[in-house]
Amino acid sequence: MVKTIGIISIKGGVGKTSAVTALGASLANDFKKKVLLVDGNFSAPNLALHIGFINPEITIHHVLDNKANIKEAIYETGYGFDVIPGSMHYSQINPLKLRDRLGEIKRKYDVILIDSSPNLNDEILATMTASDELIVVTTPDIVTLATTLRAIKLAKLRKTPINGLILNKVHNKKFELSLDEIENTCETPILAVLPHETQVLEALSKSLPSTMHKNSKSTKEYRKLASSLIGEEYKKNSWLGSKLKMFMKKVPKQDVNRVLLKVKQRE
Ligand SMILES: Nc1ncnc2c1ncn2[C@@H]1O[C@H](COP(=O)(O)OP(=O)(O)O)[C@@H](O)[C@H]1O
Ligand SMILES: [Mg+2]
Repeated sequence: MVKTIGIISIKGGVGKTSAVTALGASLANDFKKKVLLVDGNFSAPNLALHIGFINPEITIHHVLDNKANIKEAIYETGYGFDVIPGSMHYSQINPLKLRDRLGEIKRKYDVILIDSSPNLNDEILATMTASDELIVVTTPDIVTLATTLRAIKLAKLRKTPINGLILNKVHNKKFELSLDEIENTCETPILAVLPHETQVLEALSKSLPSTMHKNSKSTKEYRKLASSLIGEEYKKNSWLGSKLKMFMKKVPKQDVNRVLLKVKQRE
């Protein structure tokens, strides 16, 4: 069954678009899913730019402005997934038509990921109403956490289920908020903890999703999260290996949360 997942935050620069491309590439290549990435950041679209696709002719803006059929705005990327880009030169569209337009092509895909706008208006609402589930991206600082709380509150008001949080750009410094502090404040599980890594920036400079660049901690976290989102095992991880690891060291909080999410997704 197709699943539409919105990646949201009410703050720019936290890593939404990077998460969309990294998860999209992993779902397509590691799990062989049919994946579509959609730019839902209508004011400042840059999803296509992240993967080196410049100046697309037909975009989600044309679709929402009734100037094109949604099928015409779908592009194959060569990275295993398809993308619907946005236009940098367009205004005056109704973002809330997103859900209906996506409904027309949903059946072609296993997973659709929407790269949300951080703007607290119809743009973020469009992602919320078009999504079956949401993931909120945050960083471990008080300023971002305050906006994360607002995003969670809004999603709850809209009754769109939140799978959990991606905690991004972690430096592992004492001054950063702890996982417990963040989970308790948000009353939402942390599903992935991604270090601040040069390899993510390097991947962007090469227009690559980070999971298609070098293997790193964030790459592994994204793969594990992708596996939980679709409730499937990642074949390269042997069950025995992961069990042994569990006995040998304390299991990280996000691992437990991902197992719980995987169980839920299989129900
Ligand atoms: N884990 C990370 N480590 C280092 N840089 C990161 C990480 N995640 C994202 N970035 C960088 O942060 C910047 C903003 O990321 P982006 O995904 O565009 O954020 P958003 O979509 O929330 O505005 C980009 O330059 C991206 O490469
Ligand atoms: Mg973005």
